[in-house]
Amino acid sequence: MTTEPGSRRNYLPADAQPIDLEQVVRLSDFEAPARARMHPAAWAYYAGGAYDEHVLRDTMTAWDAFRLRPRVLTDVSEVDLTTTILGRPAALPVGIAPAAMHGLAHRDGELATARAAAAAGAINVVSTVASHTIEAVAEAAPGGRRWFQLYVQRDRSVTRDLVQRAAAAGYEALCLTVDLPVLGYRDEILRMRFDPGEDAYANLPKRDVWARGGRLDETMDMRSVDLTWDSLDEIRGWVPLPLVLKGILTPEDARLAVDHGADAVWVSNHGGRQLDRVAAGIDVLEEIVDAVEGRAEVYLDGGIRRGPDVLVALALGARAVFTARPFLWALACAGEAGVTKAFDVVREELERGLALTGAASPSGLTRGHVGRPRT
Ligand SMILES: Cc1cc2nc3c(=O)[nH]c(=O)nc-3n(C[C@H](O)[C@H](O)[C@H](O)COP(=O)(O)O)c2cc1C
Repeated sequence: MTTEPGSRRNYLPADAQPIDLEQVVRLSDFEAPARARMHPAAWAYYAGGAYDEHVLRDTMTAWDAFRLRPRVLTDVSEVDLTTTILGRPAALPVGIAPAAMHGLAHRDGELATARAAAAAGAINVVSTVASHTIEAVAEAAPGGRRWFQLYVQRDRSVTRDLVQRAAAAGYEALCLTVDLPVLGYRDEILRMRFDPGEDAYANLPKRDVWARGGRLDETMDMRSVDLTWDSLDEIRGWVPLPLVLKGILTPEDARLAVDHGADAVWVSNHGGRQLDRVAAGIDVLEEIVDAVEGRAEVYLDGGIRRGPDVLVALALGARAVFTARPFLWALACAGEAGVTKAFDVVREELERGLALTGAASPSGLTRGHVGRPRT
């Protein structure tokens, strides 16, 4: 696949007719039509994982180790999905995980995603590597709940500027991604020498990406190799926003996170895109919830595709869950309307799932609602 300088705009999606949203009944219905609409290199970037992708696959199948234990004859006439996340109300316990470059899926990119999330009353976590500026995303959905996902840049003054812009634009929390000291080893990306070009990164300083080799890992200056637990104080000193640490996979680090004042711990393996042979988030959720001992909220992402997945995670102690790829697919298929439809599906699956589990609200789910199959 050629990625000559002149062709880089070809990664951006052409105008395509939206799909028939009436036909969508589950999030995976968006996947094939999204693939058909996207440039193959952009698709590979969205879909791929690191190394041999063991963890990408494991993250999908890990859910099979859990069984819901529904309770019957409970009054579920009024199922209520609302919850609180970081002390403020959210219409549902499912949000949009940060993902780079929504512009590769649809020309409205993060603007569309933000509007749909706001309409759904969901939390929208906007990536440092967004295709639209921090401010434009805020203006697109002024009433929505939005967090800013931070990739610490090599140049700390660039990082501080990003964080302060986010605070000024009304982002209510900083979501610091801690599992990317360097970019994961992603074969497809390296083979294609995928470089979406400056068009794709609205918030980072412009530079001659081609002069740097045209490889994604070389063009993103976000290797936070020198970030340590002690760096958290510095980051917190820049803005008075709650701090969420995304990319925790061990109880040891979860404990350190709360000891260092994190307001929330986000259990994640980065969608299988960083280190291979690590755990699926759902496998370590319970031990992390136990380690945190209620001192911070715990969130989870990774392979969440259907209502029952969400129920398992909440029952095991996640305050909220997030998902990335399904919203990207929905965006590619129909822009804002697609993401709105994705939220409709999530809400409907979750409402019915709660009722079928015998819980009238997310807080009604307990560990007793989850078991493991007999081995
Ligand atoms: C295309 C793509 C881009 C991503 N970009 C970011 C990012 O910019 N920052 C970040 O913290 N995580 C990023 N992630 C990881 C997601 O936030 C999330 O951890 C993971 O994808 C969740 O798994 P799921 O895609 O199965 O829902 C990205 C994931 C994908 C698929």
